[in-house]
Amino acid sequence: MIHWRNGTGGGLQMALICHCAGIRESVIVSSIREGATSIDDLRLLCGAAADCGGCERSLQELIDEHIVYEHYVALRWAS
Ligand code: FES
Repeated sequence: MIHWRNGTGGGLQMALICHCAGIRESVIVSSIREGATSIDDLRLLCGAAADCGGCERSLQELIDEHIVYEHYVALRWAS
């Protein structure tokens, strides 16, 4: 099992988040950048959280941190 992680802004995002579907953090982050804002969105976009639901907490954390990060970047570019 690979658990590389190097921050919100980029770098290695290889952590396996949804073990049931074999979905890594990079796929989750891509889905969030494509507009996913909820676990239901991620379920539809990439298939995460479609089985046991054990990954839902991690998915919510990724949603929260990336939405906050994207908001921060938008504010930085606006100023
Ligand atoms: S770990 Fe994601 S649905 Fe089971």
